[in-house]
Parts: sequence; C-alpha cells; structure tokens
Amino acid sequence: MEDFEAAKKRAAELRQAIEDADLAYYVNDNPTLSDYDYDQLVIALKELEKSFPKLRTPDSPTERVGGSLSRLFAPVRHVSAMMSLDNVFSIEELDDWFLRVKRGVSQLDYSDHEKLEFVLEPKIDGLAISLVYEDGVLVRAATRGDGRTGEDVTANVETISVIPKRIKNSGVDLLEVRGEVYMPIAAFKALNEHQQLQGKPIFANPRNSAAGSLRQKDPKVTASRSLSFWSYQLGEVRGKRDFTTHLETLEYLLQLGFPVNPSIALSSSETDIKERIEALNELRHDLDYEIDGAVVKINDLKLRERLGATSRAPRWAIAFKFPPEEQVTLLKDVMVSIGKSGKATPFGILEPVFVGGSTVSLATLHNEDQVIQKDVRPFDYVIVRKAGDVIPEIVGPVLARRRPDSQPWRFPSTCPMCGGPLVRSKDESDYFCIDYFCPGQIVQRISYFASREAMDIEGLGEQRVSQLVSNNLVKDPSDLYHLEISDLLKLDKFGVISARKLVEAIEESKRRPLYRVITGLSIKHVGVTAAMKIAGKVKSLPGLLVVESSDLSELDGLGEVIANSVVKYVKDPTTRTVVESLVEVGLGEATSEGSVRESFEPTLSGLSFVVTGTLSSFTREQSERAITLRGGKVTSTPSSKTNYLVVGSNPGASKLVKAERLGVRIIDESEFLETLESGGSDKVG
Ligand code: IVH
Repeated sequence: MEDFEAAKKRAAELRQAIEDADLAYYVNDNPTLSDYDYDQLVIALKELEKSFPKLRTPDSPTERVGGSLSRLFAPVRHVSAMMSLDNVFSIEELDDWFLRVKRGVSQLDYSDHEKLEFVLEPKIDGLAISLVYEDGVLVRAATRGDGRTGEDVTANVETISVIPKRIKNSGVDLLEVRGEVYMPIAAFKALNEHQQLQGKPIFANPRNSAAGSLRQKDPKVTASRSLSFWSYQLGEVRGKRDFTTHLETLEYLLQLGFPVNPSIALSSSETDIKERIEALNELRHDLDYEIDGAVVKINDLKLRERLGATSRAPRWAIAFKFPPEEQVTLLKDVMVSIGKSGKATPFGILEPVFVGGSTVSLATLHNEDQVIQKDVRPFDYVIVRKAGDVIPEIVGPVLARRRPDSQPWRFPSTCPMCGGPLVRSKDESDYFCIDYFCPGQIVQRISYFASREAMDIEGLGEQRVSQLVSNNLVKDPSDLYHLEISDLLKLDKFGVISARKLVEAIEESKRRPLYRVITGLSIKHVGVTAAMKIAGKVKSLPGLLVVESSDLSELDGLGEVIANSVVKYVKDPTTRTVVESLVEVGLGEATSEGSVRESFEPTLSGLSFVVTGTLSSFTREQSERAITLRGGKVTSTPSSKTNYLVVGSNPGASKLVKAERLGVRIIDESEFLETLESGGSDKVG
C-alpha cells in the first residue's frame, strides 16, 4: 500500500513535469527539456502506470498525443484524430515491435502475412500539419494540437511555396494530406544570423524555428522564413478513390504535386529495415533538413485498419529514434582555454551528459561575441549539441530555468595560464594571449608539434608535454631533441623503458618529411595542406628561412594571407629562432635522405576519392595522405565529382548507398593499391 502511495506521488510529479514541458514546447515554442529527457519522463510514467494500473487515468499524458493549444489561432476539429507514434530507442525494442506486429497479424488470420511489407521513412524533425482540400482547393491547414483539435494556420501555410494551393484531377471531393512542415538547415542558419544582427533571440534548432515561424500572427513573417514540407500520409478521403497500400498513397501524393521524401523505401525483410535505419542514421548529417529517427509503417492499408490503434498511437507504425544530439544540462562554469597560437576560447564545464553518442562534460562557446549573443551564464541550464564528429557546443540557455541571481559572464582580461593580458584587436573576434612564452601556449605548441598531424611522435601527448614544460625541460620543439633518458628518469611516471622509448620516438621523428616539420611550427593559417605546398617550394628548413612572400603567394591555392603569415613568422626574431634551432638539431635538411619530402609522381591528379571503413594496410590518415601526395583529392562524402569510393571493412552504409546512386566507382583495398601504383590509369569511364 505504501508502495502505491509513493507511486501515486511520483506519477503526479511526472505528470506535472510533462505538462510543464508540453506548455513550454507547444505553446511557448521554447522547450525546457531535450526530447530525450522528455521521452524519459513519459517512459517512467508509462512504467509506473503499467505496474499500478489504477494510476492510469484517461487524461494522463501517456494517453494523449501531446500539445496544449494557444489562443492565437482558431481551433480546428480534425476529421479523424491526428495520432502520434510510439517510439523505440534500440534494435531490441524494434525486434519486440516486429514480434508484436507478427503476433497481432497471426491472430487476424491474415492470408498475406508471409510477405508482410513495411515502408521505411525518415522521421522529419518539424511539426505535423493537416491540409484539407475541397474540390481541389486548399481550404484549411491545421497543426496537430492535442490530436483532436488543432490550430488554424491556413493563412500561414499558404505562404509555403512547396505546398500546392490547388490540386488537379485528384478524383476526390475531399482530401486530407498530412505531413511535416520543416525548416531547411541552411534557412535556419540564415534566420539565426538575421536574428543576431537584429539583436533578437536566436532559435535553438530548426524544429523550434519552424514551429515559431508557422505560428506567427502575421503571415508575412511566415512567408519570409523559407519553410518547407514533406507529405507522408493521407488523412480523410471522400470520393471515388481506393488505395490498397501506403506506397500507392505516396505515389498519388507525388502525382498531385506534393513533396514526398526520396529516401522512403519499401522493404519486406527485418534485416533490410535495420540496415536502412543504420544507413539513414549515417546519412542524417548529409541532408539539408533534420531528421530525428526513422518511421517503420505497414504497407497494407487494410491490415493497418485491422490492427488498429491505442488511444494515442497506431499499432501499425513505430518510430525508431536516433540517439539524441541535443541535451539539456547544467553549465557549472565558463572558462577559457589557450591554444597553440595564443587564441583564448571560452568553453563550458558541464554536468556530464550523454549526447551525440558519447558523454560530454566540456563544450565550446567559440568566442566572446557568441557568449554575449547567446547570453549564456554560469549555472544556467543549457542546450548542448553534438552532431556527428563535430566538437560539442552550447546552443543557448533554457531561460525558463535560469536562477534569479544569475549574472552575465565576462571575458577575463588576463590569461589563465600566464597571467598576462588577453588582447582582442578590432578586426578579430578572438582574444589572444600575446606572450609567446606563456606556458599554456608552449604546451599546446609542443603537443601539436608532436601530434599525429605533424611530427607523429609516439607517446608524447599533452600530459607528458605538460610535465616536460613544467619541469623546465622543454620550451620549444627543438628542446625535445636534446632530451636524454637521464632527464626523463627524474620525472614521475617514467621508468627506464618508457624513457628510452620516448627518446627513441623523438629521434625517429627526425626522418619525417619537411611538410610535417612545417605543419608542426603552428604558423597562423598554415595547416597540413598549406605546409605541403610550402615544403614543395622551399625544399628545406633553411630554405624556409629565406622565403619571400612573392615566392609563396604564387603557389596554387595558397594566397596572400598565408604567404604573409609565413614570412612574418620567419622574420620575427622569436619564431625565427625556433626554426633555426630545429635546423641545428638536424631537421628538414634538403640533403638528408627521405627527410625532405615524400615525393611521388602526381599520378592521381584530377581524381577525387572518398575512403570509408577500415583498411588493413593504412590508417585513415595514411590512406588520405597517399592520395594527396599523388595529387589526388579526398573528400568526406561522395558527390557527382567523386571518382572512387575506397571501401574497407565496416564501411559507412550511407556512403555506399550514395556512391551507388551517383554511379561512383567502388573499389576495395587491393584495387586501391593498384590504383595508387597505376595512377588511376582507368580514370576515363
Ligand atoms: S506518420 C499515425 N511519418 O512524428 C502516424 N510521422 O512522433 C502519424 N513525423 O506526429 C505520423 N516524420 O509529426 C509519420 N515519416 C513520418 C514522420 C512523422 C515525422 C512526426 C509527426 C508525428 C510525430 C510522431
């Protein structure tokens, strides 16, 4: 009994939290919880209601579709309810759904159940809309609202260019089309830039901006927001048209001029559906609109009818939600980090949170302007975003959860590493620590010099560099080459073997090609590609010391900014000494065999490659370098300009699908080796 009382209390708390979140999301267009946190609340409530069925009430959020109504728009009663979808978050849960469906179907004595067909669709992250056409004319557009009653947004929807205002030859008197209004990512970015320029608050993500844009009092505002639409479902149909499958309805919609998503596919095998879901998850960052999952629907419409629905969602469809890419968490502090060129970057220290596939406890805030624009303050709850491989960033605060005593954050005037001044010049958006000998900068510079991108010195990561710097053993890269085993043995965590290994690894790095040494210098604006071009010109490290701006700016794709930056670096006495000391220890001499450049015939010139999966004889870096050193180009995703997709083990499904679609030549590792040798002689055709 006591358990029941506790459960009752907890259920009430959960309902309150869900209702608060619904209000913020649906009415204020300003969510206070991430989708993931919201889903967790609903799941917890569902579990409670399952264990204590007495707690189940008809008005529980678990029975509703969601969405309270704002008073801005006239209410519209939907002809048939706009339902929501049940969610699954893993393949195991999807398997359970398949089992439930098959069990349900077998009870129906469905003659065709041997070849049960499904349609897989991307789950568009926008807002559901119902469009009603009478005698071929769009007469009403309504949001989903609470599922039974939505808001009349006809005037606003009429401004969305891809939505037909009239349809011809539909063959029916009344047609209801359902789909998702969304904001393309490019339009979302442009809108936020515009908002920033006007000093207006920015939108957290494309979905909120789509919702905010559609629910405007003035349709002119909606018209200026570049909204778009995918149709995915027929609602009410009155007239002489009969459909037997979902796919037929989509083809019908396409014929009538409605946008239907090109990734929608028919499938009859569960394995195939799972593979397609994975491919869609990989593809999601290549799309120009956001998707947050995949929807699996039964294709046979009669079967759908017979399977029916629960009070909130149909049994014939399921949403497979991708891992969240946005989360809300507590910002415990804001600090600045000092980079290899002295750049001071503000970053947030977060209550650790699982987002974008990993646990994140630090996230960038980019620069001072961004902190001010976003008005992010310590102790705010913030939206953290990590999409794909990008660095986690703080999108903005959840204002509704801000503490009343919160204070804006101010950019520090002094460097946290050396105490020297942080300076921001007029034409730059970043602050810099201007002391070249700031220990923070030294550690970053030497760590970068030793990193895989530059000299690739094994066992010399940031922690070790920091230890060497704080013990005054190194202050510039050349000092590394004077380190002795006995120096290292005096330090914590070094034994004879680890000390010897490190000294050997440093010595071994003397054989690296010149472009790696140049990369490792951390010259402003000079990355690996520019360093390769510079190395090709100057031929040796002493050659770098005498280079002139005109020698460099004529190099293909280098430009004046980089050329000037290189010359400034070698003319400045402090940085010049760094190069001279490296020459002294024997780096980058034109005469020493192999140390100047890995030279190859430009056999792949004009060819473009994408590499996916793991190759057995190359790391990703090595394979890419093997291509670029031969004059080829490497890009991350296949496009119409790609000549080859090199496929290793565990390749990215979306890259394969895309390459196939574009007719890109797909080669395995051995063909890749041949291509490197033969120089892609078969590039025509
Ligand atoms: S079908 C009864 N298909 O997801 C089935 N919904 O979480 C109705 N959504 O309310 C929906 N993409 O706003 C369907 N391809 C898709 C979808 C999709 C996005 C949205 C829609 C729905 C919500 C449910």
